[in-house]
Amino acid sequence: MEKPTVPEGFGLGLRYSFLEDVVPMEEGPSWFEIAPENWMGRGGYFRRKLERIRRDFPLVCHGLSLSIGSPDPLNLEFLRKVKDFLEEFGIEAYSEHISFCSVGGEYVYDLLPVPFTEEMVKHISKKVEEVQDFLERPIILENITYYYRPEGDLEEWEFINAVLEESGAFLLLDVNNVYVNSVNHGYDPYSFLDRIRTERVAYIHVAGHERLGRILVDTHGDKVKEEVEDLLIYALSKTGEVPVLLERDNRIPSYEELVKDLKELRDKCRYGSL
Ligand SMILES: [Fe+2]
Repeated sequence: MEKPTVPEGFGLGLRYSFLEDVVPMEEGPSWFEIAPENWMGRGGYFRRKLERIRRDFPLVCHGLSLSIGSPDPLNLEFLRKVKDFLEEFGIEAYSEHISFCSVGGEYVYDLLPVPFTEEMVKHISKKVEEVQDFLERPIILENITYYYRPEGDLEEWEFINAVLEESGAFLLLDVNNVYVNSVNHGYDPYSFLDRIRTERVAYIHVAGHERLGRILVDTHGDKVKEEVEDLLIYALSKTGEVPVLLERDNRIPSYEELVKDLKELRDKCRYGSL
């Protein structure tokens, strides 16, 4: 499938707490990312706000419960709702995670890691094909953070490359996740980026993490750390000027402050001079 169309420039994850404050402005985000699960089937106030924002901004859907690595078959009832939602709001790009969050039809609200094996590459690739056929659009898959590593004989970068190659999916490269995993699992994040198939990157995520004892936790509750900004600039030097999305899910500051953070990030990345 063709590379999915993600809006250009720097976007922001849309959160309920600042819905009232979103207006188009020069320094503000060029687009917003939303989790379809948080908006599908919501009427009234939330729907009206989303419709208004959609009139001014392109949107990208970033799903949470596709559970592509699960042994369960795809939940087609859920996918039908996602498809209707994408069509209704004129959203082209749909991203998800290389993970699973359900077994036997029971869901947990967490993104769990899959084993890095050839068997899992095949399993996910088959499901990607089904999802793409059903949604009639290409899917973008994100590298997650993981705090334990299920048994598997491939390196993480090898596994991700194999999934991209075999499935034809594109990559949502989360550079904060690369950094957090590199510290927790002891690898060099720069060599990870040297090895990953950066030509398959559709867009990039950045977020803040925090230290909890001996490990880093991907909390999305703080500003982007300098080490991650450096890694982002390095990633962009390999991918070219792909879209970048700032995620913030905890201790969400005012919209004004998020716009300031986004502007700082954009200034540091110096698009046009990479
Ligand atoms: Fe992310």
